[in-house]
Amino acid sequence: MGKTLVAYFSASGITAKVAKKLADIRNADLYEIRPETPYTEDDLNWSDRASRTSLESSNPASRPALADRDANIAAYDTIFLGFPIWWYKAPHIINAFLEAYDFSGKRIITFATSGGSKFGKTMASLQPSCSDTVIWKQGEVLNGDPSRSRITEWVSSLKL
Ligand SMILES: Cc1cc2nc3c(=O)[nH]c(=O)nc-3n(C[C@H](O)[C@H](O)[C@H](O)COP(=O)(O)O)c2cc1C
Repeated sequence: MGKTLVAYFSASGITAKVAKKLADIRNADLYEIRPETPYTEDDLNWSDRASRTSLESSNPASRPALADRDANIAAYDTIFLGFPIWWYKAPHIINAFLEAYDFSGKRIITFATSGGSKFGKTMASLQPSCSDTVIWKQGEVLNGDPSRSRITEWVSSLKL
C-alpha cells in the first residue's frame, strides 16, 4: 500500500482526537483542515438559525475559506477524511477542501464524529466536489472517544 494521509476538520476537538489516534495506528501523516476564520462558540450554536454554521449549512453553495492550501495530496494514494456531522452531513469546509486539490484516482475513506447521527446523505453531498475517478469508501461514525483497538478493528474491516 502507498502513503496514507489522515486529513481532518474539527471545530471542538472531538474528531481531532480520533484522527490523531488513527494516524498513529496507520503510521500515516496528519493534516488539519483549518478555516481561515476559526469557528467561535457562537458560530457553532446550532439552535440559533442565524449562527454562522446554520447559515453555511443551509446554503449548499457556501464554501468557508481555507486557512491554507498546502496539503501535498499528490503524495498520497489513500486519504482518510474526518469531520464532525453538522446537520446530518459534512460541514461545507470539507467540500471546500475537496475542491481545492486534485484527488483524481485517490481512495478517500470518510470517518466522522457526531452527537448520534449516522452519515445520512454525507457521501452524496461530498462526491460532486471531486473528480469521478475518486474511489470512495464510507467509513464509520466513531463516537464515544473510541479506543485504539476499536479504531484498529474498524480499519482492519476495510481490508485495505
Ligand atoms: C453546527 C453543528 C451541527 C451539528 N449537527 C449535528 C447533527 O446533525 N447530528 C449529530 O448527531 N450531531 C450534530 N452535531 C454535533 C457534532 O457532530 C459533534 O459534537 C461532533 O463530535 C463535534 O466534533 P468536533 O469536536 O470534531 O467538531 C452538530 C454540531 C454543530 C456544532
